Amino acid sequence: MRIYQAETYQAMSRRAANIISAQVIYKPDCVLGLATGGTPVGTYQQLVEWFQKGDLSFAEVRSVNLDEYLGLSPHHEQSYRYFMQTNLFDHIDIKPENTHVLNGLAKDPAVECAAYNKLIRDLGGIDLQLLGMGRNGHIAFNEPGDDFGLETHLVSLTENTIEANARFFASRDEVPRHALSMGIKNIMNARRILIVVNGEEKAEAVYQAFCGPVTKQVPASVLQLHPDVTLVGDKAALHKLA
Ligand code: F6R
Repeated sequence: MRIYQAETYQAMSRRAANIISAQVIYKPDCVLGLATGGTPVGTYQQLVEWFQKGDLSFAEVRSVNLDEYLGLSPHHEQSYRYFMQTNLFDHIDIKPENTHVLNGLAKDPAVECAAYNKLIRDLGGIDLQLLGMGRNGHIAFNEPGDDFGLETHLVSLTENTIEANARFFASRDEVPRHALSMGIKNIMNARRILIVVNGEEKAEAVYQAFCGPVTKQVPASVLQLHPDVTLVGDKAALHKLA
């Protein structure tokens, strides 16, 4: 595993964007696995800036997102589709038809999940998967205790995650209780993984994930078993690794 410790959130974001842009330059039609949440916002801003400067093109890139809230339409401001449009897709030259986010309004979640697994396979698998990490060690919406063998599935969010995500909603009650999420198996099948973490509130989870045992209680700990993981974080998040 490679670890890059950056001084600041901005430096962390630039480093993560560097790794993504290297992937896109090396393989212009690559499949990027993308994440939402607060952590990657700066990374996406940096990619947009390089695109606007003419240093980078996403014209052939295909993307698959990790997860989506169940019950939110793509136009809902807290949906992950909306997040991706406003933070990245609307500002770069990626083709809309090449961007894939699970449908939060799917009538039959099981059918939607199975179709998403097939889609990932049909795309040839994920070249580079970007991840954030929850304070309880979750990756995508794979919560503590979830099976490592799962592919895309319907998830009940834990109280911890509902609490953490309430900051994006008008009230805690508005946070959806369910989501559709890639499983650990989809993530582990990605050829490369880039995980970004910032802030003291992530320090303990980072320590547990990378210095503790591989356990379902800390979903991100499974990444210790992946052959190509890069961890990029700021000092506050990484200080317990020293
Ligand atoms: C988002 C996702 C989540 C977040 C995690 C960290 O697509 O899958 O696992 O990466 O909850 O979120 P932030 O970055 O907001 O701390």
